[in-house]
Amino acid sequence: MNPTDYERWYATERGRWIGETEYALAARLLAAQPGDSLLDVGCGTGWFTRRAATDDLRVTGLDPNFAWLNYARVHSKSQLSWVQGDAQRLPFADASFDHVLSIAALCFVDDERQAVAECVRVARCRFALGWLNRDSLLYRQKGRDGGSGAYHGARWHSAVELRALFAGLPVRKLRLSSAIFLPSAQAWARGLEQVAPSVLPWGGLLLATGEAI
Ligand SMILES: C[S@@+](CC[C@H](N)C(=O)[O-])C[C@H]1O[C@@H](n2cnc3c(N)ncnc32)[C@H](O)[C@@H]1O
Repeated sequence: MNPTDYERWYATERGRWIGETEYALAARLLAAQPGDSLLDVGCGTGWFTRRAATDDLRVTGLDPNFAWLNYARVHSKSQLSWVQGDAQRLPFADASFDHVLSIAALCFVDDERQAVAECVRVARCRFALGWLNRDSLLYRQKGRDGGSGAYHGARWHSAVELRALFAGLPVRKLRLSSAIFLPSAQAWARGLEQVAPSVLPWGGLLLATGEAI
């Protein structure tokens, strides 16, 4: 998929709703303060990076895909930083960022466990790492038989598998939350999303949050 088509999806009603809902969950759990630094790992076209910048965070987006990163750079204000790199070998010192965010990117990385360890290593305070949930309606809609559209080639995980990725890492308060229970932008689905507790593990996004020690 080219970056223009991918970003165009965020301009649709469904795309904007999914993006805003996922961001709201991550932002609530990160509890970042204006001026904090945040690294967005696997930022793609930079939708979440730019969204975090609107909350007055000092953001850096990282992605290995030059075309997508260049799209992000061209479509953002100059104070945002963009770095070409791999989640498995983040080109930053330990505890370089107050917070680390990643949405639907680590599921494309060869060694997810190594990428998780790297995200934890460069986080000074909190991380929010989001995966696609195999136990969700979104998986039934978009994930089966190799996945469709931007989901093509992604690994879809269960909550148990995600917890295992963090085993032995220097983290505390590890918590799994989820969002996008009914993957539809219709009013009734949005209404249900607002009352569904994020502790229910059946949303399309499974978000692992915690603190780096
Ligand atoms: C579905 S896109 C998600 C982009 C963005 N986070 C979003 O939610 O809009 C998946 C992203 O993961 C990135 N990715 C794939 N392998 C990666 C790696 N080894 N390290 C970091 N990012 C990677 C891809 O280049 C792509 O931009």
